[in-house]
Amino acid sequence: MAEFVRIHEVGPRDGLQNEKGVISVARKVALIDLLSQSGLRDIEVGSFVSPKWVPQMADTDQVLAQLHPEPDVRYAVLVPNMRGWEGFLQARRADILTEIAVFIAASEGFSQSNLNCSIAESVARLRPVVAAAQENGVVVRGYVSCVTDCPFDGAVAPQQVADTVAMLREVAPMQVSLGDTIGKGTPERVGAMLEAVLGAAPATDLAGHFHDTGGQALANIETSLDLGLRAFDSAVGGLGGCPYAPGAPGNVATEAVLALLDRLGYETGIDRDVIAQAAEMARAMR
Ligand code: HMG
Ligand code: MG
Repeated sequence: MAEFVRIHEVGPRDGLQNEKGVISVARKVALIDLLSQSGLRDIEVGSFVSPKWVPQMADTDQVLAQLHPEPDVRYAVLVPNMRGWEGFLQARRADILTEIAVFIAASEGFSQSNLNCSIAESVARLRPVVAAAQENGVVVRGYVSCVTDCPFDGAVAPQQVADTVAMLREVAPMQVSLGDTIGKGTPERVGAMLEAVLGAAPATDLAGHFHDTGGQALANIETSLDLGLRAFDSAVGGLGGCPYAPGAPGNVATEAVLALLDRLGYETGIDRDVIAQAAEMARAMR
């Protein structure tokens, strides 16, 4: 039997957070609803972050209110602090499976730019968020950004990434998505980073999150597969970027990842035709 790879669709969040204009709630919901029909089990739909920092995500409460949930799909949102947790709690619906994602960086420069605080402060801020999520039975996922390069500090040492992953998992056991935020990673460097991180967390608790600036994202996914990872983030239509990471264009496209996994003989449970339709819809939003 073919091995299963889990795809975490991040287009509606990591993609649309970076668009110049604000996309209407109706268009976001149409995209999320179509993605929900594809067989995807994880869709990141928005963020409860400061609307001054990321205005494109300010309507996440309405997106959650209006989407038409599929019972097997988990809808994820980013939460940086207790203020974001409160926003999530108010918007949370009893009839949908939800997940929150907390996010930190492996480099101090990006932590300051993205969260306005040091790495240590960001971990302190997310502790009560994770505790509240646990009390409320909400699954928590973690992100570590800049796992190979930082737009401000340059190359990031593999051991620094491993130490950051360990800091996050000391707060609570969680899946950690490793973000090549500006897409400068190469298979060789991603491999070295993963070798170090695998000393801090098992492959089953890790996901790869590759932006495709250097056109290396698919090769980086192949390297990650070779090292045992079976979960990857991608964005339909190659939407994406991070507003606080200059030089972070699209995430690797979901349709390209599915084609690669198909070719390599992995199972995803995702209908590529539905994803192709969603990719067209996503590209029309740019
Ligand atoms: P700050 O300015 O230091 O926050 O920002 P503060 O606590 O001093 O608050 C300032 C104001 O923001 C206050 O309002 C707060 O109430 C409000 P005011 O009194 O001025 O009217 N505020 C909030 N409002 C709504 N929701 C909240 C919230 N928190 C404070 N949650 C903060 C700190 C964390 C808020 C800010 O830096 C922020 O929102 N950052 C998020 C940036 C972001 O979303 N980046 C993109 C996502 S990360 C990413 O894309 C990388 C990833 O894809 C992986 C990869 O590729 O590497 C995940
Ligand atoms: Mg990203």
